Amino acid sequence: MSQLFPGAVVEPVELAETKGMVCIRTASESDVESLSVYFTGLSTTSRSKRFMGARTDLSVVAAECVAKSDRLDHFTLLAELRQEGHGRIIGEARYAYDAAVRHGEFAISVADAFQRMGLGLQMMTAMETRAVDLGHEMIAAETARTNAEMRGLAKKAGFRDTGLGDWQSVHLAKRLSR
Ligand SMILES: CC(C)(COP(=O)(O)OP(=O)(O)OC[C@H]1O[C@@H](n2cnc3c(N)ncnc32)[C@H](O)[C@@H]1OP(=O)(O)O)[C@@H](O)C(=O)NCCC(=O)NCCS
Repeated sequence: MSQLFPGAVVEPVELAETKGMVCIRTASESDVESLSVYFTGLSTTSRSKRFMGARTDLSVVAAECVAKSDRLDHFTLLAELRQEGHGRIIGEARYAYDAAVRHGEFAISVADAFQRMGLGLQMMTAMETRAVDLGHEMIAAETARTNAEMRGLAKKAGFRDTGLGDWQSVHLAKRLSR
C-alpha cells in the first residue's frame, strides 16, 4: 500500500491535530509490548469501556490480540502515529470470526487524546473491508447501553441494534456487502 509504511491496510493519513502520519496496519507478535503499553495508557474509563469491565492483565490481553495472527479470520488492526521516525500505537480494533454463528465480532479503542478525530471510523472501515475480503457477511459488537461514543460510532458506520442485548448491554450488527 505504501512504501513508507509497510503493512498499511489503508493509505496513511495525516491528521492535522496529531502533527504526524497515522498508519492503520495489522498487528503482529512484535507489537505485544507496545500494545500492552497502549492499553495501560488508556484512561480507566476508556479501558473499562473497551473491555466492558476492569482488566489488569493487560500484557496477557495484548498477547491474546496477536496470538491468532496466523489465522486470517482473527486479526487486530493498529493505528500507529509516526512522528520523527518513532511509532506509537494510538488505537486498535480486534476482530474475530465466529464460524458457529457466522459473523465477525469486534472491539475497538482509540487513545483518549486522539478520540473524536475520525480514527475510530477509519479503523472500522478498514476492518470491514478486510472482513468482506474474507467473505464474511455479518459483523457485530456488544457494548454498554451507556457507551454513547461506541453507539454513535456504530450508528455512523451503519450498524443497527439487533435487540439481542439486555438491560446493561446493546448488541449491534451490520450486514456486509461487496
Ligand atoms: C468508541 C471510540 C473507539 C470512538 O473512536 P473515535 O476515534 O473517537 O471516533 P470517531 O472520531 O471516528 O467518531 C466517529 C463518530 O462516532 C460518534 N462519536 C464519537 N465519539 C462520540 C461521543 N463522545 N459521543 C457521541 N458520539 C460519538 C460520532 O457520530 C462521530 O462522528 P462525528 O465526529 O462526525 O460526530 C472511542 O470513543 C473509544 O476508544 N472509546 C473507549 C473504548 C470503547 O468504548 N470501545 C468500544 C467498546 S467495543
